[in-house]
Amino acid sequence: MKYFIVVKSLFVVCVYFLSTSTTFAQECTMEVTVGDNLNFIPTEMSVSKSECSSLTINLEHNGVLPRNGMGHNWVLSLTSDAQAAAQSGWQAGLDNQYIRPGDERVIATTDIIGGGESTSMTFSLNSLEVGGEYTYFCSFVGHFGVMQGSFIVND
Ligand code: CO
Repeated sequence: MKYFIVVKSLFVVCVYFLSTSTTFAQECTMEVTVGDNLNFIPTEMSVSKSECSSLTINLEHNGVLPRNGMGHNWVLSLTSDAQAAAQSGWQAGLDNQYIRPGDERVIATTDIIGGGESTSMTFSLNSLEVGGEYTYFCSFVGHFGVMQGSFIVND
């Protein structure tokens, strides 16, 4: 009798996890491609906080120009912070991946890469607000004006 109760309890626990597991937030991944021009592919990105607990950005540069001539990174900030963060990045230079060290306006950033290179970076979505206004951009000197897109955070 006691054994039966334990088995029954385990069964209930298993059914509970099976029925809720599809709503658990996952570690999500997105591919971003750049090249020998000032384009991001995709030109806009969106993520769901209920589906993704973290996001990995796989950045690939499919051009041939070197990182000191046509380097790119993927940087995320509030839209209202983006331009100032990019300008601070230019001053920080390539040695600092065109990001001011410790810049709190930068939510996440990859390293700068050149043609034929790729890089990866993972960050938590915890601090992002659903419906907030975020922008991803390249902080390589001179690229910010063109190389940016909206990053949309959905529930
Ligand atoms: Co760039």
